[in-house]
Amino acid sequence: MVPPPVFVSPGASVLPVSPLPSSHFLSQPRQTAPTPRTVDTSTLNAHDFDVDNRTGFMPFEPPLARLPSEYEAWEVLLDEAQAAPLQLGRRSELTQEQRDCSATWRARIRELPIILTTSLHESEVHLRRAHSVLAWLMHFYIHSQPPPPPELARADVVIPAPIAVPLITVSEQLQLPVVLTYSDDVLYNWALKKTAPTPSSPARGAPSLDNLRCITLFTGTSDEEEFYLSSARCELVGVAALEAMRATMDELFVGDSLARLRIERYLTSLSGHIDELAKQLLAVREGCDPEAFYHDIRPWFNGQDSGPDGRKWVFEGVPRERQPSELSGPSAGQSSLVHALDIFLGVSDYSHGQGAGDRKEGPTFLDRMQIYMPRHHRAFLRHLANAPRPLRELVEEYQEKDSGLADAYNRAVGAMKRFRDAHMRIVALYIMGPARREREAQMAAARPLKGTGGTDLVSFLKGVRDRTAAAIFQK
Ligand code: HEM
Repeated sequence: MVPPPVFVSPGASVLPVSPLPSSHFLSQPRQTAPTPRTVDTSTLNAHDFDVDNRTGFMPFEPPLARLPSEYEAWEVLLDEAQAAPLQLGRRSELTQEQRDCSATWRARIRELPIILTTSLHESEVHLRRAHSVLAWLMHFYIHSQPPPPPELARADVVIPAPIAVPLITVSEQLQLPVVLTYSDDVLYNWALKKTAPTPSSPARGAPSLDNLRCITLFTGTSDEEEFYLSSARCELVGVAALEAMRATMDELFVGDSLARLRIERYLTSLSGHIDELAKQLLAVREGCDPEAFYHDIRPWFNGQDSGPDGRKWVFEGVPRERQPSELSGPSAGQSSLVHALDIFLGVSDYSHGQGAGDRKEGPTFLDRMQIYMPRHHRAFLRHLANAPRPLRELVEEYQEKDSGLADAYNRAVGAMKRFRDAHMRIVALYIMGPARREREAQMAAARPLKGTGGTDLVSFLKGVRDRTAAAIFQK
């Protein structure tokens, strides 16, 4: 029987404390591919799927902001790209000085030595930072390039060996795609604004809705920072939802009339937490300008499948069999929180179904997005999906006898649908509106609108939303 997910107890320290005896399970070396029989100790929370009861899928401790000195050359080039800041190479209005600046920066990337990553492999935290630094460098490198001349319009985009080789190795260690992911721009891209004690954390500052800033930005603008932080805040608001899910799962084991009454209450509170999530999502409008997002920020995220020219990315110095193919750009569709809610409610069988924008064969877009999540979070979702007593089955079983339970369940699914309605409003404001205005201004030829993950956007999002609503039990 699969036990319910375990959360770290409140107040538990996630900082390394005094040296542990060598026999302690946390003293075991980091395992790159833990087997089901071994304890995964790659992070201190790994035994709990790296989910913290204070910050959910975000770590409680601020992510590492700089690699050890051996890797300083990467960090320095990332600092320089941001300080310049490098501009999108496709912009027609660039000055010669801006073009020269980014060409010089790219030449320095190509001239870097290939630094071995072996000394990073012992630490998950170092590997995470290395993945972030190298993936940000790669996106800066690719998207700061001017468009190729017409005769090379379909030529491969070559990622130079000094970043391609270590990025492939680090990604293999982390079992992550070789591209910027939601974990790089949201989950592990924050620092505390204030580290002084706060009422919620008397010892020192703690992650909270108004105490975060970003570590890395493409544009250095507050619009970009607010874009990432709005997702980070959704993750923090989602902690209460995770707690309601955990409490429900405890009761599902019992399943008697008292347990069902408690589940009804937890589901009612869950609906409120999902509505809070939608509120946080809509709050992105307060700090991020839609035109700035669409024109200045979003193009930096493009992966191989969502760029304007469909060129193939080739990783120099990497053998053919290790060339990656999962190269979609970062998207909050990679947020484990929303997937967890879908799976817990049994909505994912509907919402994750085949829809517009999915490839004809293989996993759907949303299932594919799980490949882009940190592997512990992926394991958490697998664990949830294998719950011995799924919530939806219980609700279905007692639908006739216990209408209170079915109503509470329907309200929670209704809240997920409302979240997706709110999300569609945001996508209309931030993508469809600016795209339409751009098309009108340029009289550009019609081409299906693409999301950052390369989906036929409108019909994809509508499909997910409508399939979510289909999970509501009819009376
Ligand atoms: C300005 C803010 C946002 C914009 C412009 C935006 C845009 C998009 C786009 C274009 C997609 C389609 C998939 C793709 O191509 O990547 C998408 C999917 C998705 N986004 Fe967002 N998004 C925003 C904020 C958020 C936030 C804060 C969350 C929650 C943490 C979120 C959760 C999702 C989810 C779960 C999907 C997958 C589709 C679904 O399950 O309904 N998004 N988003």
